[in-house]
Amino acid sequence: MKKLFKILGITFGILAALIALIAAWVQLTPLPTYEVKPPQVTIPTDSTTLERGKKVAELVCAHCHLGEDGKMSGRLFTQASDPFGEMWAANITQHPTKGIGRYTDGELAYLVRTGINRDGRVVGYMMCHPQMSDEDLGAVIAYLRSDAPMMQATEKEYPAPAYLNSFMVKALLKFGIFKPLPYDGQPILAPPMSDQVAYGRYLATDLFECSTCHSASFETLDMITPENSPNFMGGGNPVPDEDFNIVISANITPSKEHGIGNWTKEQFVTAVRTGLRPDGRILKPNMPRFAVLSDAEMDAIWAYIQTVPTIDVPVVATASK
Ligand code: HEC
Ligand code: HEC
Repeated sequence: MKKLFKILGITFGILAALIALIAAWVQLTPLPTYEVKPPQVTIPTDSTTLERGKKVAELVCAHCHLGEDGKMSGRLFTQASDPFGEMWAANITQHPTKGIGRYTDGELAYLVRTGINRDGRVVGYMMCHPQMSDEDLGAVIAYLRSDAPMMQATEKEYPAPAYLNSFMVKALLKFGIFKPLPYDGQPILAPPMSDQVAYGRYLATDLFECSTCHSASFETLDMITPENSPNFMGGGNPVPDEDFNIVISANITPSKEHGIGNWTKEQFVTAVRTGLRPDGRILKPNMPRFAVLSDAEMDAIWAYIQTVPTIDVPVVATASK
């Protein structure tokens, strides 16, 4: 008996020491850094592509990076009470040291595709667009480098994100559970506009990310194959606005009872462009206004939405925040 207790005691002692060692390794050693493999990107200079870049940058990047000064100076993105702690969306004006002046075109492209910044650090998935086409990415970069007023250099600088000191995030990164998105440098082409449903899918998932907000939650998204995200287009995601007020995203599948199955195309287009619902309610600002999308783009998104599997259950908030 005595011998058994002794063996058990030693075993537990060794186990406890091992756990303490692993915890110390997680907490005290530096975070992993990843190789940056900037692709060759062609940056167009024609005015049509610049217009396209303006549209994408103002709908996508500005959603998080637009500062109170009306420039891409960045803003508070998550509060201290967030599970990941306080985080600031960076200054991405053209400032040579505080903005994207320090980035090459290839490094910017690599960041948008994978979430790895030029120092090899992971900067969170929420801003990644792994499937944004080469053409659109080139257009965005062209706009970021243009003389647009929104891009003029400002001095704003922010503290490093709190999550870099979080034990949980360190553990996730060090055990490889949380990995940067893969990008093999192969060209990425958008489907042609003539293939309406495929083009609509590209706009609604890869480019303008309707599915990012309109699936179950940001935490359970499948960034590579958005259709695999739980409750794809069925809503339920608690989406914060700029003042951190939460609104649960809507079911935009063709469900007649719980989605937009009874809406006409015109009603859909009005809601997405202006925020006006068919019943007269104005959607909360948590739903961006896609006012600048062309008729052809709206037609494609509408055509695609008709093909999305219907989710026939009421929207439930799947996460609490
Ligand atoms: C959903 C919000 C969101 C969107 C959309 C977004 N970003 Fe960001 N971005 C952030 C946040 C938050 C950070 C800071 C994250 C961190 O430091 O960990 C950031 C950081 C950056 C940085 C600085 C990285 C560094 O550490 O050097 C650049 C450059 C950047 N974003 C460019 C872009 C571009 C270009 C787009 C549009 C294609 C874009 N972002 C879209 C939220 C966003
Ligand atoms: C940043 C997150 C976000 C993005 C991106 C987003 N939405 Fe929304 N959307 C919301 C939220 C939140 C609501 C609910 C707003 C409310 O109830 O006031 C909403 C509501 C809607 C509604 C109204 C549905 C109803 O029954 O009231 C439609 C239609 C819609 N979104 C379509 C789209 C489309 C199409 C896209 C892509 C082009 C898109 N959304 C992108 C967050 C988003």
